[in-house]
Amino acid sequence: MSNYHIKHLEEYYKVYRNSVREPEVFWEEIAEEHFSWRKRWDKVLSWDFKKPEVKWFEGAKLNITENCIDRHLRTKGNKTAILFEPNNPDEEAQHITYNSLYERVNQFANVLKDHAIKKGDRVCIYLPMIPELAISLLACARIGAIHSVVFAGFSATALSTRINDSDCKMVITSDGSYRGKKSIDLKGIVDEGLEDCPGVETVLVAKRINSEIDMKEGRDKWLQPLLNTASKECEPEIIDAEDPLFILYTSGSTGQPKGMVHSTAGYMVYTAYTFKNVFNYRTNDVYWCTADIGWITGHSYIVYGPLANGATTVMFEGVPSYPDFGRFWEIVAKHKITQFYTAPTAIRALAKEKLDFVSKYDLSSLKVLGSVGEPINEEAWHWYNDNVGHGKSPIVDTWWQTETGGIMITPLPYVTPTIPTYATLPFIGIQPALMDENGDEIIGKQVDGRLCIKFPWPSMARTIWGNHQRYKETYFSAYENKYFTGDGALRDAVGYYRITGRVDDVIIVSGHNLGTAPIEDAINEHPAVAESAIVGFPHDIKGNALYGYVIMKEAGESRDPDNVRKEINQIITEHIGPIAKLDKIQFTSGLPKTRSGKIMRRILRKIASNDILNLGDTSTLLNPEVVEEIIDNSL
Ligand code: WT7
Repeated sequence: MSNYHIKHLEEYYKVYRNSVREPEVFWEEIAEEHFSWRKRWDKVLSWDFKKPEVKWFEGAKLNITENCIDRHLRTKGNKTAILFEPNNPDEEAQHITYNSLYERVNQFANVLKDHAIKKGDRVCIYLPMIPELAISLLACARIGAIHSVVFAGFSATALSTRINDSDCKMVITSDGSYRGKKSIDLKGIVDEGLEDCPGVETVLVAKRINSEIDMKEGRDKWLQPLLNTASKECEPEIIDAEDPLFILYTSGSTGQPKGMVHSTAGYMVYTAYTFKNVFNYRTNDVYWCTADIGWITGHSYIVYGPLANGATTVMFEGVPSYPDFGRFWEIVAKHKITQFYTAPTAIRALAKEKLDFVSKYDLSSLKVLGSVGEPINEEAWHWYNDNVGHGKSPIVDTWWQTETGGIMITPLPYVTPTIPTYATLPFIGIQPALMDENGDEIIGKQVDGRLCIKFPWPSMARTIWGNHQRYKETYFSAYENKYFTGDGALRDAVGYYRITGRVDDVIIVSGHNLGTAPIEDAINEHPAVAESAIVGFPHDIKGNALYGYVIMKEAGESRDPDNVRKEINQIITEHIGPIAKLDKIQFTSGLPKTRSGKIMRRILRKIASNDILNLGDTSTLLNPEVVEEIIDNSL
């Protein structure tokens, strides 16, 4: 009991030391005291980062929905589990109690079963932020089906790639979605995507915007009538600890997205335990994470972590700018939000607007503010601290990844003294390491290097769906016996970590993880494009924006460059989604390349960031003359 909620710094250090000295003893106690199991584990941990293979709580049997729902019914049946705040503020918020969540999840689970979904089958979920989204995740988990949520801002091509990669049998979607003033034809996107997905047998369609849509005979079914007649009881499938709970795609250094596979027991234990401590959650708190459930933040800290703690978790359908830039703060005041978790890009966008949008609301209910997705710059940190937290709500700058499943480096509110831009200390059980260029661990303080984790933690992804070799190469090959994060970091004099950003070909734009390769692959499909290279450059609101260098084919050179620019962004929107559009596109006759033919992105990054005085060594280039041309035509 004692270790579940850490209340002061000495306790953090003590528990941290124990968790590192005797990880199995530590995690066993957490697992034993705070969750319900159908069968106890035989072994707490076995691991081998060389294979790599990691197993937590092997032999245990459970169902995560019993932990997230059933066990709360006796004491919290009438408590709000999910508080749904619609896009339109005039539409009433919905309070879904634990009792009602139980019934709705079971009904949904029965509908899945009626449509031949069994344990281990993959179900793709492509829904806006409406209650059916959270419920569909839980319904899959109830019967042991593996959910694969695709963010509803992704394009038809991105959707079909993900559906096919994991052979989903079913898609759950809606007739459309609301986003501020706009409504989006989600079902149309699904129909287009499914032209390339022969394996999908059923499409369940939730009604949200009441639009006229095509329903394909035999394949498409309206969800609500099926739910209405389904039983409110559904025995949970008994799941092995290491059975996959879900797949979630993240971009990587090749065009094919990586389907990160998360297992059941370890993920549950770690997301629940981090949620409790990182947000200092207390009974009766109303917690709100503004992320979309289409990302890992939503999986872990809107759905599973909060519900495993019997919390009230808010789901917001809309956007921060509708009907005006005060929307977030209006919601905080209206529902008396106690914990608010958002991304730096949202903070920067709101900080640009008139202060009145935030100052006119009563935000005194807030106790903890969170930040996630990218480094939070000092200015944004102070704006958040002063105008939202009024200097009294600690800011937790939480560093983690889709792959880590849960928060890894973070302050604990009211425990860890914070410093702007520092994610501060490793969470309990997390053993970070900074590595140098030679692959050696850098010991000591006031150092920087590449961030690795040298010991397994319960919620780490176990593999990449269908490609264990790629999992090994991407995360376990750069440094022996360590998980490599892809980020750089520094450790200061007191041992605090500050994340300095990606050291690979991933660019974080508005908190979204974008690989350069998939975007380049998309651009290169343009008939007039010969070759392209994408780099990131600093952007006031998005953190980073994308800069594309494009070589045209001879045949394309007579075309109006602005038209080609539009077409390139159109192709990107179709292949990936609008989040990957380029802010700047520069046409060039060549790209700086090494003698082995590799594009020197380092140079392009510097030029795009207007940092041309420090280009570094260009002598190894095959074509140094092109650098001058690129600088001269720089946008
Ligand atoms: C990458 C992971 C899991 C959160 C959502 C993003 C960057 C994330 C921070 C932070 C600095 C951060 C890293 C990381 N990142 N949080 N607090 N400070 N950088 O998940 O899409 O898998 O992206 O986001 O670069 O590697 P993701």
